[in-house]
Amino acid sequence: MSDSSPLIQARGIQRSYPVGDRTLEILHGVDLDLFPGERLCLMGASGTGKTTLLNILGLLDRPTQGQVHVVGRNGWALSTAERARLRNAHIGYVFQFYHLFAELTALENAMLPAMIQHGPLGYLGKRKVYKERALELLHRFGLSARLKHRPGKLSGGEQQRVAIARSLLLDPPIMIADEPTGNLDQATGEKVLELLFEEQERRGLGLLLVTHDENLGTRCDRVLRMVDGLIQGEERHTREAPSEAEA
Ligand SMILES: Nc1ncnc2c1ncn2[C@@H]1O[C@H](COP(=O)(O)OP(=O)(O)O)[C@@H](O)[C@H]1O
Ligand SMILES: [Mg+2]
Repeated sequence: MSDSSPLIQARGIQRSYPVGDRTLEILHGVDLDLFPGERLCLMGASGTGKTTLLNILGLLDRPTQGQVHVVGRNGWALSTAERARLRNAHIGYVFQFYHLFAELTALENAMLPAMIQHGPLGYLGKRKVYKERALELLHRFGLSARLKHRPGKLSGGEQQRVAIARSLLLDPPIMIADEPTGNLDQATGEKVLELLFEEQERRGLGLLLVTHDENLGTRCDRVLRMVDGLIQGEERHTREAPSEAEA
């Protein structure tokens, strides 16, 4: 796995926020690689900077110092438009609180990345292809009866499944998931994780997952420990199959 080139390569990532007249240092120089086909888990106490780091790796938030290469391209050296295209085509992002558009249906939410990637005109000619693809994902995720529902009419688990479908629409090689089950009850969260892992396997995604669930570590290839804005440890695992009780 590690002999192929990384999908994400981050070096010396620092991030600080101005707070009043002082500066709050959150990340102190983080290095991280994500390889194709790898399940990489990031764990750490609340407030240690995991979300801040993910947003930088996912090209959503600019680091104060350091570089992020995504599929070999220096993400933060690109123009805003080029960076958006790079992110949209290569990184599927799943958030703890779903971030669906309240006024769009489940199907429309799942199709949104295609609209963004191709622009309103380019999208017109491709709409059919992407609709097929979104439908296929939503069917597989058990949402066939929810296509025209708006997020407000969906359960948390359903909303997260729509968000996962959206993240996979453009078939990105990378998936970043920030506590994707943090807002779900145990049983629902377990189902959502199964689905994430299944898609990771099926597509050979590089998956970067933030979680508080220690049990998940053994189902990932590597676990990184974050303490006070630094990665302080790495464990390697041979993946365990899911237990019957959890499936
Ligand atoms: N925009 C911001 N301005 C100031 N401080 C922030 C901002 N965003 C996050 N922080 C602080 O950065 C620290 C790390 O936050 P976060 O990355 O969300 O941690 P985690 O995801 O590990 O819980 C926290 O102390 C948080 O309060
Ligand atoms: Mg967080």
